[in-house]
Amino acid sequence: MSKNAGLNRRSFMKNAGFTALAGATGSLAVGASQANAQGGSPSQSYPRLANGNYDFDTVYDRAGHNCARWDSPPRNYPGGEFKFGMGVASMDFECAPCITEALMERVQHHSWGYLASTAELTSEIVKWNGEHHNNDIDASMVTLSDGVYPGMIAAMRSFVPRGGKALIMSPAYSGFYSMASAANIETVDSEMKLINGRYEIDYEDLEAKMTSDVRVLIVCNPQNPTGNVWREEELLRIGRLALEHGVVVLSDEIHSDVIRGDQKFTPFSALPDRDVVNNSLTFNAISKTFNLAGMKNAYYYSKSPTMLQRVNQYHRAELSTLGVVANVAAYKYGREWFDQANAYMDRTHTMIEDYVKANMPSVGYVRNEGTYMTFLDFSQTMASIGADAQYESHGKRTPEHYFQDWMVHNSGVYLNPGSVYGQGGAGRMRMNIASSQAVVKDVLDAMAAAVNKV
Ligand SMILES: Cc1ncc(COP(=O)(O)O)c(C=O)c1O
Repeated sequence: MSKNAGLNRRSFMKNAGFTALAGATGSLAVGASQANAQGGSPSQSYPRLANGNYDFDTVYDRAGHNCARWDSPPRNYPGGEFKFGMGVASMDFECAPCITEALMERVQHHSWGYLASTAELTSEIVKWNGEHHNNDIDASMVTLSDGVYPGMIAAMRSFVPRGGKALIMSPAYSGFYSMASAANIETVDSEMKLINGRYEIDYEDLEAKMTSDVRVLIVCNPQNPTGNVWREEELLRIGRLALEHGVVVLSDEIHSDVIRGDQKFTPFSALPDRDVVNNSLTFNAISKTFNLAGMKNAYYYSKSPTMLQRVNQYHRAELSTLGVVANVAAYKYGREWFDQANAYMDRTHTMIEDYVKANMPSVGYVRNEGTYMTFLDFSQTMASIGADAQYESHGKRTPEHYFQDWMVHNSGVYLNPGSVYGQGGAGRMRMNIASSQAVVKDVLDAMAAAVNKV
């Protein structure tokens, strides 16, 4: 069933007039073998467009390859209503050529036993953070992991006793709630306020919620799904409040590279207050930057050896050989690919902002500072279709889940329901914008047609 659905979607995309993929894929394979024969570095191996740019416009169809973004939603829509996967946070771009080539080189050696060392990966992590975020990290303070989850769960287990809580500035990544549940602890939300078109921290509320049972504060920088890139003064203020109330800061910076051109990312651990920094741990991965989530590599670090040691006691993860190869190649050779991908997504954000404001007057838009998400306010449409009154009788968890289903049936577009992101998510839907702009344009047209008719 799912295989057939994948084929149907492929023919749908072709019918929609998108460029065929076969040419790009074919040239990739040729480029790789030529480069190997010439001994060229992976970053130089693949032909690019005539102007030297990577091609993010050609649709790279990921459906039919066990891809969560495109192959999971259609299981709930056997009638073929699903057309566009704009939910799960992965990119639709073909990955950086240097990654595929490094993997191809490694698979020539048919040996898959235990790895001797991951030191090169750690060294590349240190370099990346130093060069790109001006953050000086000691290699001995980095713990490798196979996702953000294992490290954060270990931190929650370490710092939060039975009956204790994690404090979350919401709306925030739904995974934080699952992590807390896996660590067997509770969560409490401090809802951000939408002021002059930006989500702002409610410091009074945040401090009031730092009660004695709250032991960790999760900071998401940039914030998924609202797209905030937190400024130095905001992070310092949060950090000082946490320190004062004996709350450890867990800073999730997995989206730290995906920053709009007019913004600057500030690592929590580079704040100019040593006590604040030493009261924190940072969780990161290059998986969002290079679309390597399936390769299962991540890391966490602290500038306080004591903090790090406490979390390490509860953590164990093993990395896979191919994951290490892919991540090292991305760090070493992928910078130019990523810079171009990031600039492309920046333009896509602008295109969406312009489109929503011009063509979807009932939909609320908040300008993203970072991440490849956008958090749209559909509360007017939801009110028009009676989502609040309908959702229970349709067996849906929340009005936003009902609206998610409505949107698929009326436009083919699958979005994530805002209600999974905690307090403040009501009426909102998260859209993943990391696709060819041709796909995004079709998605916008389909959504506009649906919401403008009610
Ligand atoms: C803020 C945030 N943290 C963590 C994750 C998941 O990371 P991983 O798959 O590396 O555990 C995501 C994925 O979307 C995310 O957005």
